[in-house]
Amino acid sequence: MNKHSMEDLVSLCKRRGFIFQSNEIYGGLQGLYDYGPLGVELKNNLKKAWWKSMIYERDDIEGLDTSILTNPLVLKYSGHEETFSDPLVDCRECNSRWRADHITDNKCPGCGSLDLTEPRPFNLMFKTNVGPVDDGESFAYLRPETAQNIFTNFKNVLDSTPHSLPFGIAQIGKAFRNEITPRNFIFRVREFEQMELEFFVKPGEDDDWHEKWTEIRIKWWEDQGISRENIELYHVPGEELAHYSKATVDIMYKYPHGLEELEGIANRTDFDLGSHTKNQEDLDIKASVKENKRSNAKLAIQDLESKNWVVPYVIEPSAGVDRGVLAILNEAYRVESLEGGKERTVLGLKPHISPIKIAVIPLKRNDENIVAKSIELKSQLQKTIPGRVLLENTGNIGKSYRKHDEVGTPACITVDFQTIDDNTVTVRDRDTMEQKRVNLEEVSTFLTNNYFI
Ligand code: GAP
Repeated sequence: MNKHSMEDLVSLCKRRGFIFQSNEIYGGLQGLYDYGPLGVELKNNLKKAWWKSMIYERDDIEGLDTSILTNPLVLKYSGHEETFSDPLVDCRECNSRWRADHITDNKCPGCGSLDLTEPRPFNLMFKTNVGPVDDGESFAYLRPETAQNIFTNFKNVLDSTPHSLPFGIAQIGKAFRNEITPRNFIFRVREFEQMELEFFVKPGEDDDWHEKWTEIRIKWWEDQGISRENIELYHVPGEELAHYSKATVDIMYKYPHGLEELEGIANRTDFDLGSHTKNQEDLDIKASVKENKRSNAKLAIQDLESKNWVVPYVIEPSAGVDRGVLAILNEAYRVESLEGGKERTVLGLKPHISPIKIAVIPLKRNDENIVAKSIELKSQLQKTIPGRVLLENTGNIGKSYRKHDEVGTPACITVDFQTIDDNTVTVRDRDTMEQKRVNLEEVSTFLTNNYFI
């Protein structure tokens, strides 16, 4: 594992425009971050990779994009109103508030006082007023997970895009939690993004699918650049399970601040579809299934063979986008020693994750021919390269290479005097620093074959 600290990553992120503290000019707001010009590219690339693996590379998963503001009834019947809380402890000495599981030796982590209150539950959901009258009655929650609106759309999706079991519905989007102690940069924040799949299976096949999805998800993180040796699985013990879960396996990653959850894969059983169905004053699904009777249940599916209505079980791989970004940055960051006692910082990102795919650098910033050729090459490459191609016209090749090493650009192309004469350019590889002369006609194919297949 690379030896570097969270501060190294935070500093790189700020310096190079990956991630900034939100509302910084007004002193910030704890637990909120903004993604800068490079951060938004990296984050979008990660989400694209997830979407591709879930939706495009399979035929049994549909996508969805649902509202953030959520009817309180949804979160009442999902159990979140009652149980989505952290036990909290107040310090009577310094008036600070802490999560009970962050307290050691009954001591306030702020001032060291032993004068603490008993833990009491604190709901993590944000509420907001809906409509013109702020009467406390017409409110909505900001969703604490993207999952619930997948469940509430179960029938809409099935009616419009029929599937039989097993099949899934996937969504990427924002989630909000009023975390008491947001910390460790973008690891624990109050506004974050999730990539969630609800995979519906026949009851009885759930344990097998739970194992399968755990393997698929580990392999996927490896494909994004996370090394297997930095991942551990945590089989969540009974007393720690969320209210909806029969079993959960967490994919834990060795972050700079310690081993923590990157993704949770839960077996949610028929808890959610069952709860939302019951709330619609429908038939007692479970009883009718047991009695082998047909039911009109809203959030159920008819088994093609037996014709019975089944409330599917759900396997839910739920990954945090921000935690993924942090793990990927941590994994990619390295400082290399060069000849002459010099160093270079490199982000060894996989090309499909890199925020800038290719930098085109004119050797001389004021040479008309070289600059014109560079502009032409940039726009030509932009048509074929899957992501941002940047014209880097600083006139300083060494500085440009250092910058692009540090932001993870897989290759830089230098356009020089020789280009004008013989139509060739220099392609410099980020990792090996090797330089190759490539004909302009072949450069797009060369880059595609070497970096983007
Ligand atoms: N739908 C299931 C669910 O939400 P979770 O374990 O509470 O389960 C899933 O959250 C993932 O969302 C976590 O593995 C983590 O990656 C991410 N996540 C949860 N809380 C977060 C927070 N406060 N900040 C950043 N990411 C968070």
